[in-house]
Amino acid sequence: MPTSIARRTTEDDITTEVLRRFEATADPRLREIMLALVRHLHDFVKAVNLTEDEWLAAIRFLSETGRLCDDKRQEFILLSDTLGVSMVVDLINHRELEGATESTVFGPFHREGAPEMPTGGNIAPRDADGVPTIITGRVLDLNAHPIGGAALDVWQVDSSGLYDSQYADSDQLHMRGVFHTDGDGRYTIRTVRPVYYAIPSDGPVGRMLRATNRHAWRPAHVHFVVSADGYEPVTTHIFDDADPYLDSDAVFAVKDSLICHFVRHDESDDASRQFALDPPFYTVEFDFVLKKVGLT
Ligand code: BEZ
Ligand code: FE
Repeated sequence: MPTSIARRTTEDDITTEVLRRFEATADPRLREIMLALVRHLHDFVKAVNLTEDEWLAAIRFLSETGRLCDDKRQEFILLSDTLGVSMVVDLINHRELEGATESTVFGPFHREGAPEMPTGGNIAPRDADGVPTIITGRVLDLNAHPIGGAALDVWQVDSSGLYDSQYADSDQLHMRGVFHTDGDGRYTIRTVRPVYYAIPSDGPVGRMLRATNRHAWRPAHVHFVVSADGYEPVTTHIFDDADPYLDSDAVFAVKDSLICHFVRHDESDDASRQFALDPPFYTVEFDFVLKKVGLT
């Protein structure tokens, strides 16, 4: 016979009873998460006096968010990003940097299978409109020693502000590549200057942004995952310091230490000879610093 319990009548009684049912969760971390989730969710519903229509609208919003997810689009990550949750997760998980490069959001546009590129290889061979840009620098450890053989997985939008996967008529990889550092920890990437672009806004996340008077722009950036044996990989971007959206990134991902100056070259100079480029073009330098695995 189940033990009989007093019938619950108020909303606080329901909260107490739901919490009681999760009390016996064996996994301590799952127990902590479920109890906090129920507490915060119930507090939120009570704080805003959620109506039944609003509850149903939320269910429909989340259902549509799920329906839009497939191998090319992740509307739930976009929702997390635009609510700032992804960056809060990033920040609480990377508190002890000790001088290592700061991380930022991964975003939904990374693809497996990017081509291996030689030093100076061009990730933008089909972008005729963008301004050629050379990104150079080194991958270093916390003592400023070079890390040879580090991998840099790089991706960005083309000069129209679109990732390759956003072209419905093509499955081809473009604007991405995997580079390796030389023995001095040095890397060189040829691309085009990144532009600011709007995150996908034809779904529920876009409706949320419009309904709340928010824009969908991300400041110009280039994505990197930098990794090397024995070091913690870093998922990050470099940002263009001239961008108008640095202070209002739709996904809150800008960190001061990742902002770089793109130097314009309008005349033939040492850089044009070094990189075999006709002006105009840009150069930008950024050193990545990795922390050894297991360093606390
Ligand atoms: C991106 O930079 O690719 C990105 C990040 C978060 C949301 C949408 C796009
Ligand atoms: Fe991006």
